[in-house]
Amino acid sequence: MTLMRVLPFTKYLLEQSVTIGDNVIDATAGNGYDTLFLAQLTAGSGKVYAFDIQEDAVHATRDRVKEFDNVDVILDSHANIGRYVKDEIGAAVFNLGYLPKGDHSIITKAETTLSAIKQCVHLLKKNGLVVIVIYSGHEGGSEERDAVMDYALQLPQTKFDVLKYQFINQQHSPPFLVAIEKKQLKNNTSK
Ligand SMILES: C[S@@+](CC[C@H](N)C(=O)[O-])C[C@H]1O[C@@H](n2cnc3c(N)ncnc32)[C@H](O)[C@@H]1O
Repeated sequence: MTLMRVLPFTKYLLEQSVTIGDNVIDATAGNGYDTLFLAQLTAGSGKVYAFDIQEDAVHATRDRVKEFDNVDVILDSHANIGRYVKDEIGAAVFNLGYLPKGDHSIITKAETTLSAIKQCVHLLKKNGLVVIVIYSGHEGGSEERDAVMDYALQLPQTKFDVLKYQFINQQHSPPFLVAIEKKQLKNNTSK
């Protein structure tokens, strides 16, 4: 066997988690690949919200999902998710850093990323999932990575399962995944 790479594993988790009719969020739309994947998983039902601060990214994403009428591609920071998304969500995906073939000076930043993650966690339904792909090799990346990890580490284990998926013997700060699942709280069945 071959251990699954970080991006395929991220998609695998979303596939397991998202069901038709879920509302879902792509917090960093970029070229729209993750938005399209979410649109396919929800099969045109539920709502897909995609955010990006770059006009080019919003246009590229709108074009990629033009066959789906349940996708809202929003030109705004993911720090404002709460203004647009009021209902509970089944999943949210973050692909941090910069757009590979875009302007490398436009990066996700610790403060806004953290605010957006907290809003997504707050909106999660039971067994819902927030997946965050973290890149830390660029300037500002390690600050953002540390902020996300500090937050993820303190989430109470009674309410959330938090996973880190990382290849630990690779050079050049390869991306790794943090997944936050809201637990289905069991009834108290003490004997
Ligand atoms: C690594 S790329 C995302 C790639 C994307 N998931 C795809 O499938 O092509 C990161 C994106 O985050 C966007 N971004 C940066 N800061 C943001 C913010 N505050 N709110 C929303 N998007 C932001 C960038 O413009 C960039 O397009």
